[in-house]
Amino acid sequence: MAQALIDLRGITKVYMRDQDSVPVLNGVDLTVEAGERVAIMGRSGSGKSTLLNILGCLDEPTSGIYRLDGQDVSHLPDGELSRIRNRTFGFVFQAFHLLKGLTIVENVELPMEYGDVPVREQRQRALELLSLVELDHRTSHRPSELSGGERQRVAIARALANHPKVLLADEPTGALDSKAQSLILEVFEKVHRTLGTTQIVVTHDPKVAEDLAKRTIRISDGRIEGESNAA
Ligand SMILES: Nc1ncnc2c1ncn2[C@@H]1O[C@H](COP(=O)(O)OP(=O)(O)OP(=O)(O)O)[C@@H](O)[C@H]1O
Ligand SMILES: [Mg+2]
Repeated sequence: MAQALIDLRGITKVYMRDQDSVPVLNGVDLTVEAGERVAIMGRSGSGKSTLLNILGCLDEPTSGIYRLDGQDVSHLPDGELSRIRNRTFGFVFQAFHLLKGLTIVENVELPMEYGDVPVREQRQRALELLSLVELDHRTSHRPSELSGGERQRVAIARALANHPKVLLADEPTGALDSKAQSLILEVFEKVHRTLGTTQIVVTHDPKVAEDLAKRTIRISDGRIEGESNAA
């Protein structure tokens, strides 16, 4: 069998707070194949964001092994880890995190500074991505001139700037009403269809999980306690 894109074995994460150690992940085993769409659900404080940050090489596990495309990335020097991160992952957060002083298209171009897209092709790539999220008519606006749902679509385009293998999203629809939420779900579907991007999405909303992913993983007290697969 071909190796999984993502392979976590016995991943733990312990934070130190004052003198106390706070165990947050308690032995997570998880494999995700290239092109899969996975939802992660679980109570507040169960460790979802911590797990997503480790998956995206934003944070290191305390113990356990993380293999990404066959390479052990559990404990790499910062520089190497950030190279792998920039090449492999795009991130979408609940609160958009766009830069106010830049236009929409400049926001989308920004991550390309750390990628492989030649400078003369960056604008074109950014415009294509804005077209993918159906914001071609807004490229020279500033984030403050956009609705929440539109800002999140910009954030998705920005996350795709370097054509990452994996899109990681932490409550991407958490700040949006139901109409904006359905548009975001359509965009995720379109991104999957056109770019084949693997998607791992944390959500507390069962409707989002069901719409987005065939596979939903439930996490409780820092452990995967179950998994359901839609037909
Ligand atoms: N840097 C840190 N230092 C200490 N404890 C932390 C740190 N980051 C997270 N924690 C703790 O780890 C636990 C899990 O946090 P995490 O953010 O992963 O939860 P979550 O499942 O994403 O919750 P939510 O649904 O509220 O976003 C929490 O109890 C939190 O207080
Ligand atoms: Mg969280």
